[in-house]
Amino acid sequence: MHPETLLVSASRPAREVDAPVNDPVHFTSTFVGWEPDAAGPRRLYGRMSNPTWDGPEQLLAALEGVEDPVERPALLFSSGMAAISAALHLAPNGGRIVAPQHAYQGGLSLLDSLQQTGRLAVERVDITDTEAVVRAVRDGGDADGPASILWLESPTNPMLEVADLAALTEAAHAAGALVVVDNTFATPLVQRPLELGADVVVHSVTKYLAGHSDVVLGAAVTDDAGLHRRLHAHRTLHGAIAGPMEAFLALRGMRTLALRLERSQANAAELARRLDAARREGTLPVAAVTYPGLPEHPQHALAAAQMQGGFGSVLTVVMEGAAAADAVVQNLRHWVPATSLGGVESLVERRRRFDGEPATVPAGLLRLSVGIEHVDDLWEDLQAGMRAAAVG
Ligand SMILES: Cc1ncc(COP(=O)(O)O)c(C=O)c1O
Repeated sequence: MHPETLLVSASRPAREVDAPVNDPVHFTSTFVGWEPDAAGPRRLYGRMSNPTWDGPEQLLAALEGVEDPVERPALLFSSGMAAISAALHLAPNGGRIVAPQHAYQGGLSLLDSLQQTGRLAVERVDITDTEAVVRAVRDGGDADGPASILWLESPTNPMLEVADLAALTEAAHAAGALVVVDNTFATPLVQRPLELGADVVVHSVTKYLAGHSDVVLGAAVTDDAGLHRRLHAHRTLHGAIAGPMEAFLALRGMRTLALRLERSQANAAELARRLDAARREGTLPVAAVTYPGLPEHPQHALAAAQMQGGFGSVLTVVMEGAAAADAVVQNLRHWVPATSLGGVESLVERRRRFDGEPATVPAGLLRLSVGIEHVDDLWEDLQAGMRAAAVG
């Protein structure tokens, strides 16, 4: 089945007369479990399972290419960060994590904190330099032995660097490391890291999967029985579970993922093209435009081969410094000045306003999360905002 059809038709209640078309939300903290002769109750308690999780979990696993999504559903977590934390716990105490120089700053801050407390050692690398990443995983620089986990994000937030997932995964496995890929920016409709060899995929479901900026939720996906057991046990014991309402909203959002992505990716590609043309012609005060779909993007060829469903819906522009970028944000009427991404509405944010953002991210970089509005309205607002900001 094509993903577009799967998104709409999977995880529906059985077709019976008068059955609801959508599974209702199961608000319950516990389940009837008196079964003296059975192997044991399956659900038991609301921290271990909830029927409302099943739909989005099985659908996401199927989208990511898990062979048996009923046996190994995705695991919903209370946030993307909770899923990241669970995946990092797959590393042993004192283990070494090789992680991107640029990536979601919350994840980088968590790595910093785990390093400071001595739980893990962390080595940050330029994930576009495949040889350097492989060396870091295998040899470990000053540290001892190979890495426990190669942590990847592609494209990276917010620099939109693209990692060679297949090559890096193969080399990491040869060195004995697990590979975890944050697939939030791409979504499984654009790239499927498990099929390129990754062991675990994590998502901020908050973003494209739920898609309407009304839910905070995360997920971890794996096709490995042992890793699935460990991630499931971590979720149950640490308790960062999804609320049933959030799980319901995630499934409802995923129903339209293909359509939303089709429009937002087309908008992003068109805006990147127009912005880059305006930069070259000098008609807008833009210093740089980055989008993996632009032929000038340093990893464009790799992105075209690896991201089979498009180039994503995020692009960045670099203005001449923080003040110029802030002025653009203030002068936009339609784009919403807000953090996050992946919703139907277009959002804009100067990323270096956060202390945790690496200093190598340009101070004037604006991250544009492109929504599903008409592209001409987005374009006119951007042009007007940039021109008004330049006039002061
Ligand atoms: C790439 C990426 N991964 C993970 C997260 C964290 O997800 P959440 O905010 O759902 O905890 C984010 C949030 O912005 C993100 O952009």
